[in-house]
Amino acid sequence: MKPRRTAVRIRRATSDDGLALHQVFEGMSPESRRRRYLAPIPRLSDSMQRTLLDVDDDHHVLFIAETGPRRRSQPIGLARYVVDEPRRAEIAYEVVDAWQGRGVGTRLLRQLVTTARAQGIEQLHGSLLTENAASLALLRRVLPQIEVHERPTELEFIAWLTPRDLEVADVLMDLGVA
Ligand SMILES: CC(C)(COP(=O)(O)OP(=O)(O)OC[C@H]1O[C@@H](n2cnc3c(N)ncnc32)[C@H](O)[C@@H]1OP(=O)(O)O)[C@@H](O)C(=O)NCCC(=O)NCCS
Repeated sequence: MKPRRTAVRIRRATSDDGLALHQVFEGMSPESRRRRYLAPIPRLSDSMQRTLLDVDDDHHVLFIAETGPRRRSQPIGLARYVVDEPRRAEIAYEVVDAWQGRGVGTRLLRQLVTTARAQGIEQLHGSLLTENAASLALLRRVLPQIEVHERPTELEFIAWLTPRDLEVADVLMDLGVA
C-alpha cells in the first residue's frame, strides 16, 4: 500500500502567531537561520518577533505552512512580504530543516506571489547569501522573470510579477502557436 501523503496547509498569520514563529525558528539549524537572516541568529528576540508579527491585510503579509491535525497543527515554514515602495515588496521565507526539499518552500512562495499580485504588487526583491543554492533554485522556479545581482557576500534579486494571461501568451509564443 502507498504511504499516505502528509497534508501541508498554508494560512495567513495573525499577530497572535508568536508560538508558530518560535516553533519554526526552533526547527531551523544554525545554518538555515544564518541563510534566512543573513547572519548567525541564536534566538528570536522580542523586537524581531514584534516586527515579524506586525502584519496587516496588504502591506505586511505573512503565511504559515502547517502540517498535522488541525487542532494540533505543527508549523513548518513561513513566508512574508513587506511593501517598501508603491507596487514593490521585499520577501523572505524559511522552512524547518526536517521539511526542506519536499516542496513546502515552493508552495509558500507561490502563495506569496499570488497574494502579492492580487494586491497590485509588480516587483518582489530580496537578498540571499551567495552560497544559498536552494533559495536561488526556488526563486527561479516560482519567479522566472528574475534578475540576480552579485554583491560581495550576497545576491540581490528583483523579480517582476506579470499578469497570468501575459505569461500564457509568452508560453504560446515560445511554442510557436501564437
Ligand atoms: C530556501 C528554502 C526555503 C527552500 O525550501 P524547500 O521547502 O526546501 O524548497 P522546495 O522543496 O520547494 O524546493 C525548491 C527548490 O530548491 C531546490 N533545493 C532544495 N534544497 C536544495 C539544496 N540543498 N541545494 C540545492 N537546491 C536545493 C529544490 O531542488 C527545488 O528546485 P527544483 O524544483 O529546481 O529542483 C529552504 O531551503 C530554507 O528554509 N532555507 C533556509 C532559509 C533561507 O535560505 N531562506 C531564504 C532567504 S530569505
